[in-house]
Amino acid sequence: MDGNGRWATARGLPRTEGHRQGSLSAERLVRFLSKEKLVPYVTLFAFSTENWSRPKREIEFLFRLLEGFIERKLAELAEAGVRLRLIGDPRPLPSRLRRAIERAIGATVHNEGLNLTIALNFGGRWAILEGVRRALTAGLAATGLDEATFRGLMPTGELPELDLVIRTGGHKRLSNFFLWEAAYAELYFTETLWPDFDERAFLEALLDFQNRTRNFGRVVA
Ligand code: IPE
Ligand code: MG
Repeated sequence: MDGNGRWATARGLPRTEGHRQGSLSAERLVRFLSKEKLVPYVTLFAFSTENWSRPKREIEFLFRLLEGFIERKLAELAEAGVRLRLIGDPRPLPSRLRRAIERAIGATVHNEGLNLTIALNFGGRWAILEGVRRALTAGLAATGLDEATFRGLMPTGELPELDLVIRTGGHKRLSNFFLWEAAYAELYFTETLWPDFDERAFLEALLDFQNRTRNFGRVVA
């Protein structure tokens, strides 16, 4: 979800206003996806392990926004059958935000509609390293460690194979998002800034994805 700051700056507004619009954009998309059942799983990359280097005020604003999003939306999410998950290291997060997330995860754990994952204090390298740590802690022998086992140990182990990565805001890079998981994912980059990314923009991305040939390294006839 990139481009909030530029969206605001282009309008002579503070960056925080871009984040506020960005959170509305996320809200709109989640509502749309949960209603239309176009995809069973969606992950929103909300805060990366590198985002800690932003100004303290902006970080606090982002966390408050997220807390508000969860608190305000919990009833609606639960009602709509959305199941919430978190990936990322929650320990450095403010305790109020952590509690709000824990409540929302607990309240939606039996839901069977859209699987919404929020990547918060998440990094692709962190996730791989976390898998290694868990493998070591479990005392796994090097010879017994295969891809399927390792995948299950990673923080993303509960999620299905990744099909499509959408990055808004014009940059063509993964910025430490799903590194392991994106091995055979389709990548979609759009100039559209995140606050402008609406239902139509999502459908465009999905149509683009549907028109691609995926051969996963095989020869296709
Ligand atoms: C949103 O966009 C990213 C986060 C929520 C951390 P940015 O804040 O990176 O916006 P730009 O790239 O400066 O426009
Ligand atoms: Mg950015």
